[in-house]
Amino acid sequence: MLAMRDVKKAYGSRQALSGFDLDVHEGETVVIMGPSGCGKSTALRCIIRLTEPDSGSILWRGRSVLGMSSDELRSYRRRTGFVFQRSNLVSRLSVLENAMLPGVMAGVSIDEAKRLAYGALEKVGIERLAAAYPPNLSGGEMQRAAIARAIAQEPELLLWDEPTASLDPILVVDVLKLIESLARSLGSTMIIVTHEVQFALRVADKVVLVSDGAVVDEGKPEDVLLTPGSDLARQYSESLSYFAGHREEKEVGL
Ligand SMILES: Nc1ncnc2c1ncn2[C@@H]1O[C@H](COP(=O)(O)OP(=O)(O)O)[C@@H](O)[C@H]1O
Ligand SMILES: [Mg+2]
Repeated sequence: MLAMRDVKKAYGSRQALSGFDLDVHEGETVVIMGPSGCGKSTALRCIIRLTEPDSGSILWRGRSVLGMSSDELRSYRRRTGFVFQRSNLVSRLSVLENAMLPGVMAGVSIDEAKRLAYGALEKVGIERLAAAYPPNLSGGEMQRAAIARAIAQEPELLLWDEPTASLDPILVVDVLKLIESLARSLGSTMIIVTHEVQFALRVADKVVLVSDGAVVDEGKPEDVLLTPGSDLARQYSESLSYFAGHREEKEVGL
């Protein structure tokens, strides 16, 4: 469905992507992991051309994303949804109106946009907040509203950039559960950037590890994370065993 080949992007002398390859198949949930600054956000942004790559190719259903006209790009973006680390809701619009935005911008009728937006609020469990305004929402509610906005147009591809990074631990689990249930119920293809190793093991069809702007390891989550074949995978794997071993060490008095 999506194929990135040798995508490069530099900011001045900083090579954010140094030859990035990614294959995502229809209906798949792909989790991208890697240290801060390794190029994960840049890769996601290149997929919908919020950032223009310097070179390489990106194919969407066999068509070149980098070669799309502005009309084609608009229609392609309409079929994708994006959830950022910090939700960027419009403060002076209600939660429902925020969720209607993608539809309205796509030229859907107001009634239809409203229907889709309300359906999305129901899917994320905040329909009671339809008339509320973002400044009055908690962090978790805000992130749900942002998710509703991203899914309202029933996108074929959903991109998530560290959707739980700015939430407290209880909300993290709440939002991860929501993402998991959406992954199972929506049928959208998903690319999720997250540091949540346990979540990757539970939900991902494929894990992709990124270091210094390129993919260093990829495969089934249990293969990549539990039997690590790269230094980066080994670090993630060690973080898992650290938490698994903690209680045991405490009990023997360490
Ligand atoms: N708009 C930008 N201008 C300059 N440098 C940037 C910009 N966006 C990202 N970078 C740099 O590119 C590298 C990769 O960034 P990013 O894709 O945000 O990494 P990640 O999401 O993995 O933390 C980092 O060194 C970052 O500082
Ligand atoms: Mg990032």
